[in-house]
This record gives sequence, structure tokens and C-alpha cells, in this order.
Amino acid sequence: MEEAHITWHNHAIVRESRESLNGHRGCVVWFTGLSGCGKSTIANLVDQKLHARSVHTFVLDGDNVRHGLNASVQILAPLGQQYAERFGLGFSAEDRKENIRRVGAVTELFAAAGLVTLVAFVSPYRADRASVRERVEESRQGDFVEVFVDAPLEVCESRDPKGLYKKARAGEIKGMTGIDDPYEVPDSPEVHLKSGEQTPEVLADQVIAYLESTGIIA
Ligand code: ADX
Repeated sequence: MEEAHITWHNHAIVRESRESLNGHRGCVVWFTGLSGCGKSTIANLVDQKLHARSVHTFVLDGDNVRHGLNASVQILAPLGQQYAERFGLGFSAEDRKENIRRVGAVTELFAAAGLVTLVAFVSPYRADRASVRERVEESRQGDFVEVFVDAPLEVCESRDPKGLYKKARAGEIKGMTGIDDPYEVPDSPEVHLKSGEQTPEVLADQVIAYLESTGIIA
């Protein structure tokens, strides 16, 4: 393999200075669960509630990030087919791994910038989530908060906001998580939300209560 010749430069302003300016810690709050389980809704509610309390936050959402940083082959096609095929991402296990690796690297930066970084990706593979946790917690233990948004497949399928489950059942989409692609349930998430049983409002408050209990926010 070609040698990289790249060097890490320490920042002049350290993370702790940013955090003391902000009045709270930076961290990664990683929402995982099936499509339609409520990840984005809850993450956005947490975002709104914390923003109203002057906490510095940002939401990274799978559907949105897949329009830019992690664009599909189709979106990148205008840049040339070969290029699009090299860098575009779909939903194979390998592409999902790269999706999570890239967004994981972004969350490391956002957390280091002092943000409470709210991340809503299906992220179906334990190993991919564990790799992000490992990297984030290299800087500081406790900075990766895994939130399992646990809604039964039947509930997600009955919501079907994008009509994807219907298409998957009809065989028009292959590799839909929960239908013909795996979802690996988290072993020991920091927060376990029973999404089918409570309102998003109550669930968002449970996440905020966890962040308060660990001192990430005051
Ligand atoms: S992940 O598995 O790689 O983490 P990500 O969160 O980025 O997925 O994107 C999931 C979103 O893409 C879903 O909410 C859904 O709208 C859409 N999607 C399209 N195809 C699939 C598929 N095969 N499996 C899961 N989600 C899909």
C-alpha cells in the first residue's frame, strides 16, 4: 500500500475551551433503529428542546446526508459514471459500513467542536456502530450515547412514511432493512426508547434526562 505522508496537527483552541464557552460538553447521540421507527422525529425534537435551552446542537440524518456527503451513484452520475460508481453509496452491507464510517468521522469533528451531535441513521450493523463508538470514546469515555429507537417492524411498516416497505413487500426494492436485510439490535444501548408505546415528546425527554444525568448538559 502507498504510504500516506499525512500528519495530525493539534488545534490551537482545545476542545475544553469550546466546551467552557458553550457551557456543556460535546458528544455524539447516536439514534439507531429501523426506517420509520421515529429516529429523525425524536432527534429533531431533542434538537429543538436543547436549542431552546441554548445548548449547541446539530442533527445529522441518514436521508439528508445521503443527498450530499454520502450521495448515491445516481446523484453523482453527472460527475462521470466511473467516479459515481467509485464514491456513490447504496445499501449493501459494505456501502452501509462506509456510510457509517464517513458520518462517524464527521461526528468526531462535531463533538470536538463542542456540539451535542444528534445522529439518526438506521446503522443496522453492531460492528459499524461499535467502530464509531471506539473512535469517539478514544477522546473521552462517555461521549458516545447509543439510543436504540425500538419500534416493532409492524409499527414501522404501518407508518411507512416513504412507502418503502410497501415497495419492498412488492419486490420492487431489494435489501430493505427489516424485510430482507438484517437489523442487529444493540446489546447495551445507553438509552432504550420504546418507540411504539410512547409519544415522541416523552421519548425526547427521556434522551434529555439521560444527557442531564451524565452531566453532558447542565
Ligand atoms: S444505513 O443503513 O446506511 O444507516 P441510512 O440511515 O443512511 O441507512 O438511510 C436509511 C434511509 O434510506 C431510510 O430511512 C430510507 O428512507 C432509505 N432507504 C432506501 N433504501 C433502503 C434500504 N434498502 N434499507 C433501509 N433504508 C433504505
